[in-house]
Amino acid sequence: MDRRKLLSWFGLGWVVSLLPSSLVGCSDAQSPTASVPATTSPATSPAPTAAASPSVAAAPAGNFKAIGTVAQLDKDGHLLSDKIAVVRDPKDSNKVLAVNAICTHKGCDVKWKSDKKLYVCPCHDAEFAADGAVLEGPAKTPLQRYAAKIDKGQVLVSV
Ligand code: FES
Repeated sequence: MDRRKLLSWFGLGWVVSLLPSSLVGCSDAQSPTASVPATTSPATSPAPTAAASPSVAAAPAGNFKAIGTVAQLDKDGHLLSDKIAVVRDPKDSNKVLAVNAICTHKGCDVKWKSDKKLYVCPCHDAEFAADGAVLEGPAKTPLQRYAAKIDKGQVLVSV
């Protein structure tokens, strides 16, 4: 094999190796997950529903780690730690819901709006329910969910 032919094979291999990562970079997919009931209960108001959005699937519970206290959660209305956001379930205040706070559209950090009981993305105004379900586009994929619970005054999330 001559030098020119060898170099052309290396060039072709390089182009082929870039193809899968280029295709993945175009998708906005994230995998969804679930929650576990909590053990305490302050009052809450009804939450928005996600009738037209894709369903949010349950995630298996693995090792739980504490990301804050119940006192902090109830004082601030939400907890945020390492891009994991936790709020009380607006439909059942005995439960907590944990989601990945990175928008599934283009990756901005979503913000919890306590008054509306939903997450809003500041970049293109996508809205997500407390359980991560898409309420308003342009995002099409729910926020990733994590199993979460309250134990001995701590908010625990399985990541
Ligand atoms: Fe969130 Fe576009 S990055 S809506």
